[in-house]
Amino acid sequence: MKKIAVLTSGGDSPGMNPAIRSVVRTAIYYNLEVVGVKHGYKGLIEKDFIPMDRGSVADIIQRGGTVLLSARCEEFKTEAGRQRAYKNMQEEGIDALVVIGGDGSLRGVQKINAESEIKAVGIPGTIDNDLSCTDYTIGVDTAMNTILDAINKIRDTATSHERTFVIECMGRGSGYLALMTGLAGGAEYILVPEIDFDPKEVTDKIKQGFKRGKLHSLILIAEGVKAPFADLSEYNGSPGMAMGDLIRERTGMETRVTILGHLQRGGSPTATDRVVASRMGHKAVDLLLQGKRDKMVNYKNNSIGSCDITDAIVKKSEIDMKIYQLANILSM
Ligand code: F6P
Repeated sequence: MKKIAVLTSGGDSPGMNPAIRSVVRTAIYYNLEVVGVKHGYKGLIEKDFIPMDRGSVADIIQRGGTVLLSARCEEFKTEAGRQRAYKNMQEEGIDALVVIGGDGSLRGVQKINAESEIKAVGIPGTIDNDLSCTDYTIGVDTAMNTILDAINKIRDTATSHERTFVIECMGRGSGYLALMTGLAGGAEYILVPEIDFDPKEVTDKIKQGFKRGKLHSLILIAEGVKAPFADLSEYNGSPGMAMGDLIRERTGMETRVTILGHLQRGGSPTATDRVVASRMGHKAVDLLLQGKRDKMVNYKNNSIGSCDITDAIVKKSEIDMKIYQLANILSM
């Protein structure tokens, strides 16, 4: 193996830059050539390659986003698009590829390994932390801290005005961010797609809280929550907005809704994200040097290892019930 490529794909996450830096510098350390692929899989199809040296990843460890840029690429899902990508990589002399991204991006890794000579491995990079086989995906710690900062600020104004706030956070189909930040932020209720809830229980708890003298109520809701709302189209798909209306109707209390949106995806990566990203980037190159393919670097019990991509791309369908119950106990 002489030359490896690295790309970031799908929704960006803070920590992708330290991961790129680690892949590039580890590869150079082992006398490999490295190219960066711009715009994710689209860059493979359009031959958007840039040579990477030590200096090309200088001063990026602290930066959010991804210097290689990212995209969700429909063309790579077609046979013709992928064949073009393989041809381009072959012409460029690329022997192996490191893909940093979420489940959709890792499906691409699977395809490359199945259909070409190129050895590809993945690094989990998504704020959602929704992949199986790993306790951690790069970006989740920074996103949690961003959400927590927002909760703290909303708590201030909620108290001043004795209001209820519904805070909607990201996590496509996954309640991880809502659960963890709800616990860390002391939310009264945490609503996640993995667990059905009774709206009456939520509104009763809010009313009781105010009766007991609480000055505010904070409800954390994950964007992936669907039930018990029959139709979210009038709320532009937002379960937070729907929940806000429901609380207003049933409690008569002043209620506001904050949808945190894409600010959760930005920001300078935290120490944890930088450390995990640096370790994972190194491990990805190490796997390739061992001749491995179709693997995802993972993080389990504070140890960096790897698992089969097939096992990794299964989305986590459950959340940690012990943490959910703890949040419930503490929010009394
Ligand atoms: O998968 C990461 C994520 O941030 C999800 O939490 C969110 O639902 C989605 O990406 C948003 O995607 P986009 O940036 O394409 O709107």
